This record gives sequence, C-alpha cells and structure tokens, in this order.
Amino acid sequence: MTFDLNNLLRENIKKLVPYSSARDEFKGEASTFLDANENSFGSPLTKWYNRYPDPLQIKVKEKLASIKGVPIENIFLGNGSDECIDVLMRAFCEPGVDNILICPPTYGMYQVSANINDVNIKKVPLTPAFQLNMPAIEEAIDDNTKIIFLCSPNNPTGNSLDRDDIEVILNNYSGIVVIDEAYINFSRFRSFTQELADYPNLVILQTLSKAWGLAALRVGMAFASQEIIQVMNKIKPPYNINQASQELTLQALEEVGQVNDMIREIVAQRDILAKDLLTIPSVQKIYPSDANFLLVQVTNPKAMYNYLLEKGIVVRDRSSVELCAGCLRITVGTPAENVSVVNAIKNWKPVS
Ligand SMILES: Cc1ncc(COP(=O)(O)O)c(C=O)c1O
Repeated sequence: MTFDLNNLLRENIKKLVPYSSARDEFKGEASTFLDANENSFGSPLTKWYNRYPDPLQIKVKEKLASIKGVPIENIFLGNGSDECIDVLMRAFCEPGVDNILICPPTYGMYQVSANINDVNIKKVPLTPAFQLNMPAIEEAIDDNTKIIFLCSPNNPTGNSLDRDDIEVILNNYSGIVVIDEAYINFSRFRSFTQELADYPNLVILQTLSKAWGLAALRVGMAFASQEIIQVMNKIKPPYNINQASQELTLQALEEVGQVNDMIREIVAQRDILAKDLLTIPSVQKIYPSDANFLLVQVTNPKAMYNYLLEKGIVVRDRSSVELCAGCLRITVGTPAENVSVVNAIKNWKPVS
C-alpha cells in the first residue's frame, strides 16, 4: 500500500485558505507596529505581553530541534499534545464518514477527540499481555480508517508496545500512524523520532507535561513529515502557544541536565515503589512500567481508592477499564510521597 497524503486529507482541508495573521504577513523588525490592533500603550505587566506571540514558535522549535535531533520543519507545537490529537483528527477524518483505530485500554483523549469531531472509532483491544492484536487490527482496518493511534509507553498499562509490531503497521498501512510517546523519557526503548525519514505516514507525539515537569504550560509536540506539519499549521489557531509559555519553555529547555536528573530519580523511585508495594498482601500484581506510573492490581480497588482519599492521597481508579480489573494507577511521586502511599496501603484493613 502506498501512502498518498492528498488522498487522506479531508476535501475542505485541502482547499482551506489558512488565516493570515498580522505576524504572518510581516515578520521583520520595525519601530512602530500598528498592524494587529494590539494595545501600543503596553500592559499591566512589565513584559511585552501587549504583543501577539510568534505564531510558529520558531525560537522554541530551534531549541527543540537541537535537543530532539529533528529539523524544525518537522516539528509542530500544540497547546498540549491534546491539541495535536484534535488537529490530526480535523485534518484527516471526515465527520460521520471516517474512522480512527484505537487499542484500549489506552489514553482517553483519542476517543473523546473523535467523539467531539463526530469521527467513528474502531476499537481493537490489546492482548492480555497489553500488546497489539495484529490480526484483529488488520481485520478492523477499512477504507475509511484514516488514523491508527498507538500509545507507547501506553497509558494506563505503562508498558511499551513491541517495536516490531509498530513497524509492521507503519510499513503496511497507508493511513496515518500516530505514536504517542508522552512517556518516552521514562522508557528503556528509543523514540521513533529518528525514523521519520523512513515513514511518510508517521506522526510522533511527545509532551513537556511529563518528564519536563511543565504540565501547566500546555506544550505538546508533533513530529512528522514536512507536508503533514504544514497541514497541521494550516489548521491550528494562529497563536496557539501563548507568549508566557513560549518564554518559559525556552528557559526550561536550557535545563536538559536537570531534567535528565529528575528522569533518573523518577525511574529509580518507580522501581523502589514497585518493590515496596509488592511486599503488601493486598497488592496482587504490579505491571512492568516504562512510564512514570504503575498499574497496580489490588484486592479491592474501589475500597482502597476511597480509603486512600480519606488519607489525602489521590490515585486513579482504573478498575472499570477494559483489561484493568482490580487496578489502581499510581503516579510515581517524590520519595516522601511514595513512602506515604506505601505506608497507607500497608495499614489498610479491608472491612470484611
Ligand atoms: C498518553 C498521553 N498522551 C497525551 C497526554 C496529554 O498530554 P498534554 O499534557 O501534552 O496534553 C497524556 C496525559 O496524561 C497522556 O497520558
């Protein structure tokens, strides 16, 4: 099957004339800017927040390009990777006609974004080992399947999907393959970002919300071919990453060393947390994790969830999610937070 971007795009997106902002039409230096109906008097803040930000976030992308080893033409920034998911859906999926394929249990926004955009959903559950069910995926794909979302490491299961399986899909499916790598920095396996040149249908999502500790700034990344990135830029709202986020992101991107230290610490804490939890009789199973959380099977998840809440500890009850019966999802915290959750669970007395 050959990949043809033009064939995949929605007709209205192919024809779309994108909004041309003041900052798109004039990019240079000038002494007087009277082109964007901004407030030339300034702002209540000391910074230049009276001006619209760079619509294409070039400085941030230049820095990301050097960190990720991906040219800036292959980078799109979204208001969180959630915006990237939505933009992809709007680029490729004709409402009421096309479908996406997801492999539950997985990140919930693929389904919500599809529902918002009136896009049909084909669900092919993971196997009990939380891997892709390849024959069932092949069976489920039809002519209207525009995007396959693969989350690796997967939320909420924590494991990475088999690379060979992902490659089989990339090589044989002619639609868009999105690999959501939100948790890749915590994984033993390498990112697909260096494979972009080999796969014109590949879109990789990453985020600054996890390893970088910048969830509040709302900065998500999509890496893809130049053609796909151009389409995404056409669709996004003109100033989707605000000035404060761009400035703070640039500042944070100088601190790769500090972030790598945090990642090492979180991974070490993940292993300690798993080991400690396993000594507790009410904990039945800890699933292997390549992420910054653990999927933990316990004897009575709902009661334990409520008990932890009473202790002021909030975890995520995933027990009603497909293939996750009995499971709580626990984010790896600081050493003190991990000790407190372990001690609380140790002291839990189920009412019989
Ligand atoms: C797999 C996955 N993708 C994307 C996101 C959303 O990331 P962002 O904060 O960049 O919107 C999350 C958040 O939990 C996630 O688990």
